[in-house]
Amino acid sequence: MSSSKTWRVGLIGCGGMGRYHLKMLQAMPDFKIVAVCDLLPAAAEKAGQEFNVPATFGDFEKMLDSVSMDMVTVATQTRGHHAPTVAAARRGISVLCEKPIAIDPAEADEMVETAHRSGAKLAIHQQNHVNPGIRKAQAMVAQGVIGDVVLVRGRNKAGRRSGNEFMEMGTHVTDMMLCFGGAPAWVAGHVTIDGRLAAPRDIMEAKEMSPRDRDSGLVMGQRALAHYGFERGVLGEIHFLAYSKTMSENYGVDILGSQGQLAVRAGGSVGPGSNLWHLARPMEGTPAQLADWKQVDLAGIGVEEPMVTMYRRLVESIGSANEPPSSGVEGRQALEMILGIYESHRNQGQRIPLPLSQRQHPLACWRQASP
Ligand SMILES: NC(=O)c1ccc[n+]([C@@H]2O[C@H](COP(=O)([O-])OP(=O)(O)OC[C@H]3O[C@@H](n4cnc5c(N)ncnc54)[C@H](O)[C@@H]3O)[C@@H](O)[C@H]2O)c1
Repeated sequence: MSSSKTWRVGLIGCGGMGRYHLKMLQAMPDFKIVAVCDLLPAAAEKAGQEFNVPATFGDFEKMLDSVSMDMVTVATQTRGHHAPTVAAARRGISVLCEKPIAIDPAEADEMVETAHRSGAKLAIHQQNHVNPGIRKAQAMVAQGVIGDVVLVRGRNKAGRRSGNEFMEMGTHVTDMMLCFGGAPAWVAGHVTIDGRLAAPRDIMEAKEMSPRDRDSGLVMGQRALAHYGFERGVLGEIHFLAYSKTMSENYGVDILGSQGQLAVRAGGSVGPGSNLWHLARPMEGTPAQLADWKQVDLAGIGVEEPMVTMYRRLVESIGSANEPPSSGVEGRQALEMILGIYESHRNQGQRIPLPLSQRQHPLACWRQASP
């Protein structure tokens, strides 16, 4: 692929995140924003003016048919990810779609399969997949610095009930876990509400649970706990404790090895400072021994805004046999690690094999099956 190529990008969904994509794209000299689209004409017009994009649309099918482009960014809310992604992929146009991939596994299947059939590349914007701390931790694991990886612990930001947190932040965390475990093999989980096990009557739409959150489909519960097994023989765990305040500093992943531990924290902007810590023994010891954790120098791994890396790696994959980071397949795995918690909960916390055998949303199935 010629290094002088200019990548032509269309963007669907000019809301908060869409505009952030446009800002980053505008700063990348080898990317050109050729069209923007929003159901709300005012939003498309405003983005067009601000980012100097004359081609504005209200209908993504029209945009895809009228303007030639190499890739599309889908920055609509989750319920709106499937239709534009499938429409672009069907035309052979590669897609960077916002997270989580879709409302349920069936939608995610169609997105992945359509891209696969046409040869388009699909990446899900779970950008911590390429966070400098994650990449450096992967390199240290490969060098054997912490011995064999034993357990990957996902750490979330809180500030929401688990139901909303699952779809808003959960797949970011499960995606970071995948970076160290590989494909997930099973999940076992439990969901509670007001100190009791969640029941079918607690199933609701995301916006019903929290009107300030986005439309991400069916949700349930206040707190949740899950365990995982990964294909590389690694165990995983994650909890959602619904603390009232968000703590970005908590957000990331811990990698526990037979000879040491790594802690990546992905909250906050990416700068020259380190977001990776190393403990040179497998067990932490007492809180008094926390000072033994040492920051890891990220020099040499390349500190770049993860969204920029996601765009670069996606276009590099176009026309090659390589998949982009946080590919459609990985985005679907991250989603099933989250939705599988509901399926396990419904089955008294049993281990549920992943991928899920049922492709409908587990909560839709549970609600249908309940009198
Ligand atoms: N990766 C991240 O760090 C990150 C951070 C924030 C948000 N997000 C994700 O970004 C996505 C968008 O979130 P947001 O807060 O910007 O939402 P938003 O509601 O602000 O923006 C969505 C926009 O899409 C438009 N839209 C809806 N359906 C459309 C359609 N069919 N065609 C064209 N336009 C359509 C809406 O009119 C709206 O302007 C969500 O999936 C969210 O989870 C990701």
